[in-house]
Amino acid sequence: MTDDLPVSLPHRLRAALVAADFTYDRVADLLGPAAHDALARNETTPALRRTTGGSPLETLTRLFLLQSVVDLDAAERALPGLVDRLAVEGFVERSVGEVAARLDVRPYAADGDSLWVVSDLTPGLDGGPNLVGPDHVLGISSASTSLAQLTIREPVGRSLDLGTGCGVQALHLAGHSTAVVATDVNERALRLARFNVTLNDVRTPVDVRAGSFFEPVAGERFDLISTNPPFVISPATGERLVYRDSGLPGDRVVEHIVRTAPDHLTEGGWCQVLANWVIPTGQDWQDRLASWADPECDLYVVQREVVDPASYVELWLKDAGQHGGPDYATRYDTWVSWFEQQGIEAVGFGWINLRRSGAAQPRRELLEWPYDVEQPIAPALHAWASAGDVTVGLDSRLVVRTDIQQETVGAPGAADPEAVVLRQQRGLRRARQADTVEAALVGACDGELSVGQILGALADLLDLDPAQTETTYLPAVRELVAEGFLTTGP
Ligand SMILES: C[S@@+](CC[C@H](N)C(=O)[O-])C[C@H]1O[C@@H](n2cnc3c(N)ncnc32)[C@H](O)[C@@H]1O
Repeated sequence: MTDDLPVSLPHRLRAALVAADFTYDRVADLLGPAAHDALARNETTPALRRTTGGSPLETLTRLFLLQSVVDLDAAERALPGLVDRLAVEGFVERSVGEVAARLDVRPYAADGDSLWVVSDLTPGLDGGPNLVGPDHVLGISSASTSLAQLTIREPVGRSLDLGTGCGVQALHLAGHSTAVVATDVNERALRLARFNVTLNDVRTPVDVRAGSFFEPVAGERFDLISTNPPFVISPATGERLVYRDSGLPGDRVVEHIVRTAPDHLTEGGWCQVLANWVIPTGQDWQDRLASWADPECDLYVVQREVVDPASYVELWLKDAGQHGGPDYATRYDTWVSWFEQQGIEAVGFGWINLRRSGAAQPRRELLEWPYDVEQPIAPALHAWASAGDVTVGLDSRLVVRTDIQQETVGAPGAADPEAVVLRQQRGLRRARQADTVEAALVGACDGELSVGQILGALADLLDLDPAQTETTYLPAVRELVAEGFLTTGP
């Protein structure tokens, strides 16, 4: 694709995509669940069987999503007057009677909007080679979706998408920011991101800038930074795939972002990072990550998964299409040896959230939570910060969150359960073991009685010392608020 695209190409392509009703929902309807799921597994045969009618929607699906060659006539009907222009700009390749895609044009449903995203073709369909070039521009990956679901969608002023790729996060940010800056070092990514902004008729100003990490935004501050950086942990000595390799060894890229982001946040601003981090042998991962974070910021880290070095190396060698290649074993050995030399026991995957809260005592929580959560998870992260802003004392009147369920575990017919677990049904779906007093207290929190009154009544009922009950349970009440089991009201 050339840099000096006349504005009309994205607009005319948009008109063709709209006319063909080439949206996420219509494609899903066309394919049906089985073929749609198969395509998500990179298998195209079931979808090819469902798209034989020759309508523009079927042609666009076959051409761009299934990477199937289509008849020139069908392509002309789906993209009226555009096939030659798209060929010149590298979107498609045309021969005498046929057209094949060279870029991916994909419908995307985002925050209630129908969008389209142009990126490089998805490699490895139908078991084909997974190899990509060093400047490959990733389409919408599972990591993109995770970050999109993590990013807090409150209205903000300026936001920053660091490492924009095809611009998918910038498109989301444009929906709730007054201005967006998107940066990348890959010139092809920058061109595609700019194209996608125009293709989607984005009215919010989106400034797409070339440069490494924070260099293009020196001295600027943002209300929200959302980033899915090239976080793959490697020795950084081999060839670099820019979409996943930062060129820095280990997890230095994530450390750099965590250390630098606070200088670019406004008061109250958030930086949300999808990341991988090193877990050194015999060291707490929490201490290491916490040491990177500005002590003036709230820090909320959720470690979602832990992977051993061998599984990690296999994952990323397969991602780069090296599995089964002639030097697969050598690459594998070099990479795991480096992990060993560095004393890396495992790699953590998860979310790092920093907030410049301005609080006298910023809140910090580094949590291991590999369990299923409600998506999008962003409202739960926002609620975590709000809960930290609340002061809880004996006078507080608290309300139990409506989604909390109590589970009891014990022998059948036993008078008392061995354990009581309070479990959230929404958000992070946290669970917490509670004793009789704590469970009864949570149950009694209806916003009418104060914490002091409830603890007093429970001490009376259970024949406990009232002062001691307050001393013992007030910290637990604070934790229950911080963890979202109790709130200060609707
Ligand atoms: C994992 S992709 C994320 C793409 C997109 N934001 C998403 O969420 O799908 C990482 C992006 O960071 C870019 N990148 C790599 N090194 C960079 C650097 N030093 N500064 C800024 N961006 C960089 C890559 O070109 C790539 O587009």
